[in-house]
Amino acid sequence: MDKKVTVVGAGNVGATVAMRLVEKELADVVLVDILEGVPAGKALDLAEAAPIEKHDAKILGVTNDYSQAQGSDIVIITAGVPRKPGMSRDDLLSTNMGIIRDVTRQIADVAPESILIVVSNPLDAMCYVALKTSGFPKNRVMGMAGILDSARFRTFIAMELDVSVESTHAFVLGGHGDTMVPLPRYSTVAGIPITELLSPERIDALVERTRNGGAEIVSLLKTGSAYYAPASAAVEMAEAILKDKKKILPCAAYLEGEYGISGLFVGVPVKLGKNGIEQIIEITLTKEENTALQQSAAAVRKLVEDMKRLGL
Ligand code: NAI
Ligand code: 2OP
Repeated sequence: MDKKVTVVGAGNVGATVAMRLVEKELADVVLVDILEGVPAGKALDLAEAAPIEKHDAKILGVTNDYSQAQGSDIVIITAGVPRKPGMSRDDLLSTNMGIIRDVTRQIADVAPESILIVVSNPLDAMCYVALKTSGFPKNRVMGMAGILDSARFRTFIAMELDVSVESTHAFVLGGHGDTMVPLPRYSTVAGIPITELLSPERIDALVERTRNGGAEIVSLLKTGSAYYAPASAAVEMAEAILKDKKKILPCAAYLEGEYGISGLFVGVPVKLGKNGIEQIIEITLTKEENTALQQSAAAVRKLVEDMKRLGL
């Protein structure tokens, strides 16, 4: 392939991201982890699936060898610890802050022109760590969450109305946490807002299920968190960038005044192309929607302040 993507963290999300990237022939992939053998083993296993899956993308797994990430177009950071039942995403703050800082330093050294897509939680705070540690321009650092949260909302809308998921569209903005902001007015089935298709009570129920979408999976899996849909969402971002698609997607972006928010990563609609975030799109919000977005941003700001107290 003429594109290269490094995936840091060869766990559930990272390995699934690697699998989807090579099976779609989007790029050659380097899978990095701190564990001995695991990234090499998963990469070899995925390489051995290639003749059956019929692709020629190369995949290499390495332990702590960041030199292999040199020349990467994109680096997807999934390293860290996931949630266990009873834990919030924010409980991961201090452990994952240290991990993301360490990983980002090494990536910035070997792949200074790359675009960083952060997946590790708490997402919006970890994007902040990656931006500040890398020193990359803000268009080259972003986070995956809004696509996942919107895909969950779309899934629940399709289930409720018994329609194809392909006919659904949804927008979930804000931080990737309990304060996320699903926007029913901008969520549609074949262009028809769901506010015209469902009662307010049913919409509230779907919104609530979306907000708890991550916790619902954690409570079922018990030993970790979701990874199939998160991997799909991260790969959609990578594909938009690698193919310069100019796709409009909800992603965590560093805001400098947009939506009245400054100096924070928050989920908003962006245009993704070969330069990363090429535009932040400001949509009109009602007073209630804007209040919810500001509350969500305040929750992210608290995490950033906590990290500064922890020595960021
Ligand atoms: P996992 O535990 O399966 O994999 C994490 C991997 O990171 C492990 O293989 C571990 O060895 C590796 N790792 C730890 N420290 C490292 C370091 N310093 N350098 C390189 N690798 C390191 O976890 P999973 O399920 O893959 O989740 C990964 C992260 O993604 C978690 O923080 C999770 O909360 C987050 N997540 C975020 C989502 C989002 O919507 N933004 C969705 C799903 C997961
Ligand atoms: C999720 O939403 C844990 O953030 C992860 O599934």
